[in-house]
Amino acid sequence: MAQTIRKAVFPAAGLGTRFLPATKASPKEMLPLVDKPLIQYSIEEAVSAGCDSILIITGRDKSAIENHFDISFELEQLLKEKGKNDLFEQVRAISDIAKISYTRQKQALGLGHAIYQAKDFAGGDPFAALLADDIVDAEKPALTQMIDVFERYDAPVIATMQVEGEAISRFGVIDADEVEPGVFKIKDMIEKPAFEDAPSDLAIIGRYIFTPDIFDAIERTAPGAGGEIQITDAMRLLLKERPFYAVKLDGVRHDAGDKLGFLIATVQYALKRDDLGDAFRAYLRSLEL
Ligand code: UTP
Repeated sequence: MAQTIRKAVFPAAGLGTRFLPATKASPKEMLPLVDKPLIQYSIEEAVSAGCDSILIITGRDKSAIENHFDISFELEQLLKEKGKNDLFEQVRAISDIAKISYTRQKQALGLGHAIYQAKDFAGGDPFAALLADDIVDAEKPALTQMIDVFERYDAPVIATMQVEGEAISRFGVIDADEVEPGVFKIKDMIEKPAFEDAPSDLAIIGRYIFTPDIFDAIERTAPGAGGEIQITDAMRLLLKERPFYAVKLDGVRHDAGDKLGFLIATVQYALKRDDLGDAFRAYLRSLEL
């Protein structure tokens, strides 16, 4: 079967207030996990899942993202002259990663409003949307797991993970029936419920596969909390009208847009590195905690 999802959208126009002051003038999507910016991890995930057309939704002060995926002529020249071929290849590969285009969300009016900016790009095709600060460390890329479900059910799919205890209140939460192990048909979803009101322990995380009818649903969505157009509200409208699925991801998710989550992800990714892992592990062991 031909690849069904070729387009991926990366909303990156948020203000990153949880990571101030680092995000005052630099995009949070460019924060590095060890030595690679967050957004590069998720773009690599989309590419490995078969997407070859990428749209990044940017805002003011986000030009570092465009520069990162562009050719850096002077840097490449210098690396070549110095015989640093490995680094040259690495830097060149970033600009060759996929066909990337950009559009601006002029005001940060919410994730639903950001995704709406992808309407022309989607052009009637289903597409993936990935939030770069949700890093999913998984053997089978998270988006590949979701595309498998999309292809079998021919309906939109969101990613979920199990969250224990009161922490569920920090997420969107689904009310759903399990239709096969790890796959759920969604009945409803609620944004940041009180612990007692949470309909399940399945939290929505930042990976989505949408069908083009999401744009009409966003148009019909009134601004919610903070005057923002919430994607959860648009999805709620849509799931009353069509089947909508969730997949429980196999893997570990890190909230790298949050300071503690970012630190944990950094430690985990550093420990896995061939070139740094042993030395870093030895250092951590030496700490008197
Ligand atoms: P978040 O709420 O995690 O991001 O939005 P934020 O607003 O940048 O960060 P905090 O909460 O203030 O620290 C989830 C994703 O949606 C994008 C963000 O860039 C992030 O990837 N987003 C959010 C937009 O693109 N536009 C918006 O108006 C809001």
